Amino acid sequence: MSGVAEVLLRAGYKVVFRVVFARMDPERAHHLAFGVIRVLPRLPVLAGLAERYGRPGAADGVTTMGIHFPSRFGMAAGFDKDAKGVIGLGLLGFGHVEVGTLTARPQPGNERPRLFRLVADRALVNRMGFNNGGAARAARRLERARRFPGRPVIGVNIGKSRVVPVAEAVDDYLESTRMLAPFADYLAVNVSSPNTPGLRGLQEIDQLRPLLSAVHGAARGVPTLVKIAPDLTDEQIDAIAALAVELGLAGVIATNTTVERTGLRAAEDVVAALGVGGLSGAPLAERSLAVLRRVRAAVPDDFCVIAVGGVTTEADVEARIEAGATLVQGYTAFLYEGPTWVMRINRLRRRRHRRAARRAAAAAHA
Ligand code: FNR
Repeated sequence: MSGVAEVLLRAGYKVVFRVVFARMDPERAHHLAFGVIRVLPRLPVLAGLAERYGRPGAADGVTTMGIHFPSRFGMAAGFDKDAKGVIGLGLLGFGHVEVGTLTARPQPGNERPRLFRLVADRALVNRMGFNNGGAARAARRLERARRFPGRPVIGVNIGKSRVVPVAEAVDDYLESTRMLAPFADYLAVNVSSPNTPGLRGLQEIDQLRPLLSAVHGAARGVPTLVKIAPDLTDEQIDAIAALAVELGLAGVIATNTTVERTGLRAAEDVVAALGVGGLSGAPLAERSLAVLRRVRAAVPDDFCVIAVGGVTTEADVEARIEAGATLVQGYTAFLYEGPTWVMRINRLRRRRHRRAARRAAAAAHA
């Protein structure tokens, strides 16, 4: 998209956000916007435009875990819980889409309201609690999505069903793995959401080892990654990274949302009134970057590390890559920046690669 058209569309979205979305319940606003993304593939003119202008440049492609990703940048888990918008998100320019978190059993999630904006902080607090229609239904959708030519890479993020006790978590994850791995390009084991009681305790090595080893085995060669919380200690991060390498996993995703509430612009009582949940967006960036560096230092160079948390601009994407990320994801900034967000990142990355190629050519001539 020409820079001018993109700036105009972006400005338009900001007005729509302020006048319409910001006054709506955030979850309703999400469903409204997601509804448009879902039907995008069926609107040929819009889909054509989105595809033409959203498409990442070839130079941003990367092969990792034996999969070719058309770009480094993808949609994080939680936006498309039930694998309903994979193709639309691909048309908007995401090189991969991590669907889920999906659980073996369908579940409604926590009571509403459960999603809150902190606009001044460019952040969200959520306690969705893995609302999803269950692995079996998602598997059927994924089977169809995989046939779509030019689809994005599809990651499938799995978690524990709420009704299943933590002591029986392994069997529950295994059920999801068996249903979903055949339709996943990669599998992400989520043990880091703060909104399912006891889930983050699965990050303790004595619990994590049997879980990851069982899922990895049942995935039958589908690359498996573990998604970790930003609230772990350095020692815990090192231990999980070492375990992932030892078990032959494909990678680590850093990070999920945080339970911390420090350094926010919003008044303390406003934040406290929102209650429990995971904080995402700009305030998470610094910690997420630090965790990424820690993970990268603990794993081999070819080990896939997916960076997520507070990524907003193309410069943020580049900073994560420089800090060792193989792939980068975002979610919260999409809500604030609107549908041209990824197009802009892709355009600026194309420009960065063109400049680098020119510099390399000039150096070769010198
Ligand atoms: C999430 N996230 C998330 N992660 C996950 O592994 N499974 C999930 O179901 C969800 N659900 C979810 C819902 C909502 C409303 C948000 C905002 C986030 C976490 C997400 O994938 C990501 O790790 C964090 O949001 C940090 O990235 P951003 O949002 O700061 O770019």
